[in-house]
Amino acid sequence: MTRVRIAGTGSYLPERIVTNDELAQRLTKTSDEWIYTHTGIKARHVAAPDESASAMGLVAAQRALENAGITADELGMIIVSTATPDYAPTPLVSCILQDELGATNASAFDMSAACCGFIYNLEIAKNFYYKPDFRKPILIVATEVMTRKVDWNDHKTCILFGDGAGAVVLVPSEEGPSDIVDTMMRADGACGKYLLLEGGCRSADSLNHPQAHILQMAGTQVFTFAIKAIEEVVTTLMERNNLTMDDVARIIPHQANYRIIQSAGKRLGLENEDKFYINVETVANTASASIPIVLDEMNRGGQLKRGDKLLIAGFGAGLTYGGNYLIW
Ligand code: UT7
Repeated sequence: MTRVRIAGTGSYLPERIVTNDELAQRLTKTSDEWIYTHTGIKARHVAAPDESASAMGLVAAQRALENAGITADELGMIIVSTATPDYAPTPLVSCILQDELGATNASAFDMSAACCGFIYNLEIAKNFYYKPDFRKPILIVATEVMTRKVDWNDHKTCILFGDGAGAVVLVPSEEGPSDIVDTMMRADGACGKYLLLEGGCRSADSLNHPQAHILQMAGTQVFTFAIKAIEEVVTTLMERNNLTMDDVARIIPHQANYRIIQSAGKRLGLENEDKFYINVETVANTASASIPIVLDEMNRGGQLKRGDKLLIAGFGAGLTYGGNYLIW
């Protein structure tokens, strides 16, 4: 069995920042005060009109490769998660990146599980190292332009989302404690209607659906699901790996809403939210990119030490949920 470690991280957030106050000027039914007290969000980054998932993913990937000290031609594989691909869906974002990075030796595929895409992809990538002849670095990218999939007149959804990309480079870890020790991957397809994006090929008329490409969200149902999901993921990963809360350096939750994290923390018996790493205030919900963006922020901010035990917990459309137990 091979251990793997994250050798490098990278991220990219678009230059343009849209504050709650700016949103409130456009949407009469909301205010900075409402958004902040109900979500913990103050601002979000919004991609420029010509910025795509691949363009943002490219910068995040280049930064991760540089951080890892690895060149693109050394990569054996590129895995991308995105709910907002450049095309619908081909050519794949992973293939665009393979070309633009010059990763001539890498295979490439997109594997999406909505906001859980990065969580799922860490486990999928790790499993390739069970093949004794596969030792090359794997690039995992999560990149999302969610602001193009929301109705900017709907005060209930558009306030939550932002754009951005995160990336990590995985390598086999022959020595030291680092590893993706355990992963939990779950889905509850019966709740799929709570986060719905029409505009697919479901029927001959689907492409012209009146709500095509506009996220429809049952916020309260997702909110309740999310709290239980974080609690279940953290509890299960701790139990399965004989961890106490004192063993865990940080919990990295999907950054969707501060109140979800706060409520999950209460259920986990945490006195405050210090155990969680939270950046939702300035980044908002960037779907599957949210967790690698956090990892990069923590890594570059000197907040991660070799051997730190980290729990990742996420949830999202599908509905999917899950998490990883990493030793940094
Ligand atoms: O990656 C997963 C993505 N999705 C999520 O994580 C969503 C999870 N859900 C949530 O974060 C919360 O449900 C929201 C923040 C979206 C909404 O908060 P809520 O407390 O569940 O509000 P609600 O939808 O139950 O609406 C309650 C009231 C309504 O007013 P009335 O009908 O009672 O008069 C809404 O119109 O709050 C109103 N409201 C707002 N008011 C001002 C909802 N959104 C807003 C808003 N500004 N942005």
